[in-house]
Amino acid sequence: MDQAIVIAVDGPAAAGKGTLSRRLASLYGLKYLDTGRLYRGVAWMMLEKGLNPRDEDAACTIARAFDPEALDTAELRTGEVGKAASHVAVHPGVRQALFEFQRAFGATPPGAVLDGRDIGTVIFPDATVKLFVTASVEERARRRFEELRLQDPNLTLATVEGDLRRRDERDQSREEAPLKPAPEAELIDTSKLNPEEVLGRASRFVDQALSRREMA
Ligand code: DC
Repeated sequence: MDQAIVIAVDGPAAAGKGTLSRRLASLYGLKYLDTGRLYRGVAWMMLEKGLNPRDEDAACTIARAFDPEALDTAELRTGEVGKAASHVAVHPGVRQALFEFQRAFGATPPGAVLDGRDIGTVIFPDATVKLFVTASVEERARRRFEELRLQDPNLTLATVEGDLRRRDERDQSREEAPLKPAPEAELIDTSKLNPEEVLGRASRFVDQALSRREMA
């Protein structure tokens, strides 16, 4: 990882990680990987095959045969697939099967911005900079509701908020790679910030980390 720059962006669902990560990647000339898509991809394949995402053996078999490059379906963004993804993400064998792809993606120069739940704690404990992006559950539910209501006009804000709370609970309480900030992560609460302000804060942290790296 000598020359590669790795920006780890972790945080709960709908906190604004994706928007920030895409902008950081373009600002610093890095690749971008939405690691949630990997878990969503495994979950989607299980649902397609009529398998239960809680079935550990089946989930591991699917994850080991999974080709992230071949993944191209709009259905990954649905609430159903997101929920199933948080179930498959609990299985240690699934996380292990997806580990190498994420490492290789980030470690290949020029490096990458990776967003997820365990990038700074497990995938890249040696990341150049670690950001933990969060927002109040009410604000995250409002944002996710705006996104999902286009696909499902019958959806209510209360349902989205309930689903988010349960997903937060599953992501934070699982034994393997739970969602939590790395001790050295820079925290950014996006509840009252617009995307420009979030990018401004994040890029200051990245610039500081890059100048520390140059001086070392
Ligand atoms: O970020 P997302 O909503 O697309 O993630 C879907 C689920 O995948 C999330 O509930 C937890 C899981 N996930 C994970 O466990 N580790 C990651 N690095 C990314 C996502």
